[in-house]
Amino acid sequence: MCGIVGVVGNSKAIEIVTTGLSRLEYRGYDSAGVAALDEAGDLHTCKEVGKLAALLEKIPAFTKRVGATSTAIGHTRWATHGEPSVTNAHPHVGTMGPFTLAVVHNGIIENHTALRTKLSASGAKFVSATDTETLPFALAHALQQGAASPLAAVQQLLPTLHGNFALVAMAQGVPDELWGTRRGAPLCVGLGQGAANYLVSDPLALAGICERFMFLEDNDVVHVTPHTIEIFAAGERVVRPVQTLDLSADASGKQGFKHFMLKEIHEQPAVVARILSAHTHATTRLPALEFSPTIAASLASATAINIVACGTAYYAGMVGKYYLEQLARIPVNVDVASEFRYRNPPLVAGGVFIAISQSGETADTLAALEHAKAHGQTILVFTNSPHSSMARAADCTIPLLANREIAVASTKAFTAMVLNLLLFALQLGLQRNLLTAAAVQEVIQQLRELPTQLQEQLEHTVPIQSLANNLATMPGRSLLYLGRGLLAPMASEGAIKIKEISYLHAESYPSGEMKHGPIALVEPGLPVINLAASNDGLLEKTLSNLQEVAARRGEVILIADSAATSQLPANLQAIVITVPTVHPLLLPFSFSIPLQLLAYFTATAKGTDVDQPRNLAKSVTVE
Ligand code: AGP
Repeated sequence: MCGIVGVVGNSKAIEIVTTGLSRLEYRGYDSAGVAALDEAGDLHTCKEVGKLAALLEKIPAFTKRVGATSTAIGHTRWATHGEPSVTNAHPHVGTMGPFTLAVVHNGIIENHTALRTKLSASGAKFVSATDTETLPFALAHALQQGAASPLAAVQQLLPTLHGNFALVAMAQGVPDELWGTRRGAPLCVGLGQGAANYLVSDPLALAGICERFMFLEDNDVVHVTPHTIEIFAAGERVVRPVQTLDLSADASGKQGFKHFMLKEIHEQPAVVARILSAHTHATTRLPALEFSPTIAASLASATAINIVACGTAYYAGMVGKYYLEQLARIPVNVDVASEFRYRNPPLVAGGVFIAISQSGETADTLAALEHAKAHGQTILVFTNSPHSSMARAADCTIPLLANREIAVASTKAFTAMVLNLLLFALQLGLQRNLLTAAAVQEVIQQLRELPTQLQEQLEHTVPIQSLANNLATMPGRSLLYLGRGLLAPMASEGAIKIKEISYLHAESYPSGEMKHGPIALVEPGLPVINLAASNDGLLEKTLSNLQEVAARRGEVILIADSAATSQLPANLQAIVITVPTVHPLLLPFSFSIPLQLLAYFTATAKGTDVDQPRNLAKSVTVE
C-alpha cells in the first residue's frame, strides 16, 4: 500500500528518498511526494499525481530550490480519504502559530473528523480531504499548547489517535531530526553507516544503503537524529533488537524478464526446491518443520483448526483445508479475515489458529489474528515476511521461503503457501499415526520431481499464449472457472488472477454448483475454463459438467492431464491445455502454471499494467 521513506544526516537525502520510493512502487500508489528542509531550516514540498516518474521529473528543480539538505521525507500514497490529487498527496504540512510540521502517513486515522473539527476551531486551515492532514496540525497545536518538543507532541498525540497507522514527521527549523510512531502498520529504523539514520515502512526502500534495522513495536515513538535513535514505549526508553537483513535478492530487479510477475512465475521451480531443502529431512525424506515443545503439544491435541487469510492466501488456505482434513483428519474452518474479525466466532480454548499472508501486514488478517490471540488460540503464521507484524505476534512462524514477491498478483508466494501447508499436513498426519512414513516419503519423492516438471511447463507456453490472445480480444468480458476437489480453490485462484491483471470479469465455482445458478450465465461463446485431473476420482463428474456447457454452446476450455483429455467425448469441441500427470496431492502445483500464465498473457495482450494493476496494492494495510 503506501510507502514511507525518511532520511536524516545524509547529504543525498532527496535522492535516497526518491530511490527508496521507487523501490516501494510495487506496493501500489496513485500519487507521491517529498518534503525537505533547506539550509535555513525552511520546509519545501514537491508532489505529483500518478506514477513516480511524474514526480521525478520535478525533482531536479525541487533539489535546486532546496539546495544542500540532509533531512527529507517522502511518500507514495494509495488514496483512501480524498481522490488522488496533488493537494491530497503527502507530505502534508500544518502550521499553528510559529510551529510548522510535515507528516507522511500510512494507514487510516479513524477519528480524523473529530480531530479536524477540534483543530479547525483552534485555527487550523485544512486544504486537503485527507485524514493525514490532521496530523501535522495536531502536532503543531500540541507544540503551541506547550509540548516541550516534537517528540513530546508525538507522545501526546498517539493515545488520541484511533486506527492503524505509521507516521513520520519533520519540523520546520529543526534540521536532522525525525519523529515517528506506528500502530498496526509497519515502521522501522534503518541504521546508517556514519552520521545518518532512516525511518522507512519497508526495509526494501533502503536496499544498498542499510543492512541493519530496528522494527518498531505497536505504539512505540521514535526520535531519530544522524547520531542517535531513541525509542519510547509508554513514555519509557526501550531498546528494540537490531536485525541484519540481506536485501540483495529482494532488490535484484527483473533479471531480463519483461515483468516482475513473469520473473516470479519462473522462479517457482527454485522456490519449490528451496522449501523442500529447508523443510524436509535430507536423509529420512520426511517433513521437518520445527516446532517448540509447547507448539508441538498444541498441534498434537488440536481438535480443530481455524485458517484465516485474504484473497489468494485465502485460496491457499482452502487447499490447506483439503490437505489437513485428508491427511491429518483435523476439521478445518477457513475464513476470509474481514469476516472472521467481526463475526466473533466461538473459539475453543486451546484451539489452533493459522494466519496465511505473503506480506504479514494485511490489516484484516492481522486483526483476526489479534482476536484469536485474545481468545487463547495458539497462533501459527505462514508468511513470506519473517519480520512482519504477523510474525511478531505469532506463537510460531513458518517462513514461506519464496523470497520477496514484487508483482501485486501473487504467484510464487501462493505456491510456497500451498507447499508449506502440504508439508505441515503430512507432518501432522505422520505424528497422529494416520500416515505411514513410506506413504509420506512417496509424496515427498514426487515433490522432489516437481521443480523439473514445473520448469518443463514453463518452457511450453504456446497454447496458453494463443488462448490468452483469444480471451484478450473476445467480444464478451466474462469468464467462468470451474473445478472440483483440490481444483475448486484452484479455479478461484485462476479467476482472481485474471481479474486482477487483465480486468476481465471472471467467476469461479465448484463445478457441482453450476446447476444451482451459474449455468444461467452460459450462452453461446461464453468461455468456461474447466480444470480436470484423471486421478482424483472426480473426472467423470467434471466431464458431465463439460457436456452441460457444450450443450448451451459455451466455449469449453479444458485444462487437464493427457489421460483426462483423452476421455473427452469425440463430438465435444474444446480448447485443451495439457498439464503433466502428477500425484493427486500435487495438482495445485501443476495447475498453477497455466492459470498464472493465462492471466499474464491475457493481460500483456490487453496492454495492462501487469505488475501494478489499477486500484490494487501489494500489501493491504487498511480495512
Ligand atoms: C493476490 O494476487 C492478491 N494481490 C491479493 O489477493 C492478496 O493475496 C491478498 O491481499 C492477501 O495478501 P497477503 O498474502 O499479503 O496477506
